[in-house]
Amino acid sequence: MKSSISLLILICIAMIAVNSCKTEEENIDQRVEKLLSQLTLEEKVSLIHGNTFFTTPAIPRLGIPALHLSDGPCGIREEMNPHDWNVANATNDAVSYFPSLVALASTWNQDLAAQFGKVYAEEAIIRGKNIMLAPGLNIHRTPLNGRNWEYMSEDPFLTGKMAVSFITSAQSGGIAVCAKHFALNNQELARDTINVEASERALREIYLPAFEAAVKDGGVLSLMGAYNRFRGQHASENSYLLQDILKKEWGFRGLVMSDWGAAHHTLESANNGLDLEMYPINGKKGDYYLGQRLLDSIKAGKVDAKVVDDKVRRILYVMCKLDMIGKPETDTTGMAAKLATPERAAAALAVADEAIVLLKNNSNTLPIDLKKTKTIAVIGDNATRKHAYGGLSTTIKAKYEIPPLEGLQKRFGTDVTVKFAQGYAMSKDLNAKDPKLVAEAVNLAKTCDQVIIIGGLNHEPGNDCEGSDKPNMNLPYGQDDLIKAVLEVKPEAIVVIIAGTPVDMSSWIGKANSLIYTSYIGMETGTALARVLTGDVNPSGKMTYTLPVKLEDSPSVVLGEYPGSNGTVNYKDDLLVGYRYFDTKAVKPLFPFGFGLSYTSFEYSDLKVETGKEKESLNCVVSFSIKNTGKVEGKEIAEVYVKDAQSTLSRPDKELKGFTKVSLKPGESKRVEVTLDKRAFQYYDPEKKDWVLEPGKFMLKVGSSCDKILLEKEIEL
Ligand code: BGC
Repeated sequence: MKSSISLLILICIAMIAVNSCKTEEENIDQRVEKLLSQLTLEEKVSLIHGNTFFTTPAIPRLGIPALHLSDGPCGIREEMNPHDWNVANATNDAVSYFPSLVALASTWNQDLAAQFGKVYAEEAIIRGKNIMLAPGLNIHRTPLNGRNWEYMSEDPFLTGKMAVSFITSAQSGGIAVCAKHFALNNQELARDTINVEASERALREIYLPAFEAAVKDGGVLSLMGAYNRFRGQHASENSYLLQDILKKEWGFRGLVMSDWGAAHHTLESANNGLDLEMYPINGKKGDYYLGQRLLDSIKAGKVDAKVVDDKVRRILYVMCKLDMIGKPETDTTGMAAKLATPERAAAALAVADEAIVLLKNNSNTLPIDLKKTKTIAVIGDNATRKHAYGGLSTTIKAKYEIPPLEGLQKRFGTDVTVKFAQGYAMSKDLNAKDPKLVAEAVNLAKTCDQVIIIGGLNHEPGNDCEGSDKPNMNLPYGQDDLIKAVLEVKPEAIVVIIAGTPVDMSSWIGKANSLIYTSYIGMETGTALARVLTGDVNPSGKMTYTLPVKLEDSPSVVLGEYPGSNGTVNYKDDLLVGYRYFDTKAVKPLFPFGFGLSYTSFEYSDLKVETGKEKESLNCVVSFSIKNTGKVEGKEIAEVYVKDAQSTLSRPDKELKGFTKVSLKPGESKRVEVTLDKRAFQYYDPEKKDWVLEPGKFMLKVGSSCDKILLEKEIEL
């Protein structure tokens, strides 16, 4: 008896040892296979489509829980009705309203992206969500895309780096995130039907790298197939994108869900790599391509039941990664009090502070000298407008949002009298003008020591808003007239543009002394703006997209097609997206990619490049010194571009392949290092169907923006 007990104990110890030797992945695989073997075909099919707009069904007998999904990029969306797009009018779902993703990217600060991911996940967990439908990783191809502000940049490298920091941190907080919209969803116009034609190189070098980084470096657990078609096939059912590239080449193990209503056929959805269909056909409860219709197709022998296993496997894999199997649902009672805590507001503010970009500051107009300022006129609808409502899937019920005027009033206290004039009014007609509001603003401007105009866009259709593109690059509601009229009487007036996309400023920019450009920066917008305007915070954001002088200068117009014709948009602009075009074709933009000023100045020196010997990783270490040569503390973003000096296939003039952000006290100098990997020098060769590193000369260019290169060195690889 005694010996058999000892034997049993030994066996147990051995089993535990064997188990702990297994990798986490092997353990998960084992659990998944066990569950899979216990599910009926009907149960499996029930798992691969939604049962409400934002959940999948549970299978309690096996401890398989429901997945709770929610938008979006700026925080956790307000609760919705289960079966329609109306809000549930819950009273406990007010959350932190975080800066938009383009704002996050304009910090160029990966630590902030990680901090953002952490607090974002905390709120998702409190709200009982498992998969958050963000980040959006599409590239800004046209200045008109209504959703550019939900995406990070025109540059795939910057997008990838910021995304990986965000994803890694959010997912280690216990949620899965969903990188979207895979892929080539670069316009809202005709988004459900438009067919994108793009070359293999444009696909691999511009539109996919951020997703590739999210999968390979960020370990993202889910992806959302886009609405549009690519090479004739809907992205959510696209065999090349989902099967060949994502799952086979990149080895993605997580799940692919459709965008809401982006599945269109049973056979293609079943066979081409879609794992989870969200939103029923035409909104009709219970009707899905991957529902009864799929069961019928399997029974009719048209679809192999094994394809369902692969989908369920991936869904269970994500559940296991989140440790959800057999666990009770999150208890959300009392959640209201746990949301939008001061700590998370501080994280939102930290991002907002660094997201603001100073584009012009002639005669050191900024920061505002409070000793000389007793009255300030704040002019413009965006001074009081709140942006948390976001537009469709980005809608946040913010616990609070401090608009610019309120932030300025708080900052100035009783020292300065702040007066407000609306200046222009939001209207359904984007061309609407209100001369009375302009006259009022001009009169007010004349009587004050300082004037701050706060204009730009908002989240109404025709602005930065899902579901439509902007009709042009103009500032809406007659703002050009307003700005010109105010600058006429107050040439030193400060202009602040709140927008997530480029606007045409050509009619007045020459007259403005100073310009701040910022996207939607969340619940602490007013606080952050006031801090930057007064110099409490030294601005350190840089543009993540080019601001062209005019829409007609944009490569999508000059070279490419937009919005396409006969249902197809041909990306003839190819690799020349954003600064790649402006650089290569020597077209001067209004403000270049990577540009942003500071209240101090920086000096770059002593560039060294060391290339590691390992052939596989390459490891090219670029190091240089940056010195703060001004009078105040500040942060500088240094950008490292690579130019392929001799290449068989044509390449853009130069491409961003590294960056770093460094904080420096006045007079302080630091040595910084940026490591470039092999990919930094490669291009995609469509014939070889692979990335190639062509031996030869490369120029490494270090600068403070894409058109201000301060150090360079040639290397031979
Ligand atoms: C949007 C997605 C969003 C989904 C769910 C779609 O219309 O394109 O970005 O996540 O709705 O709200």
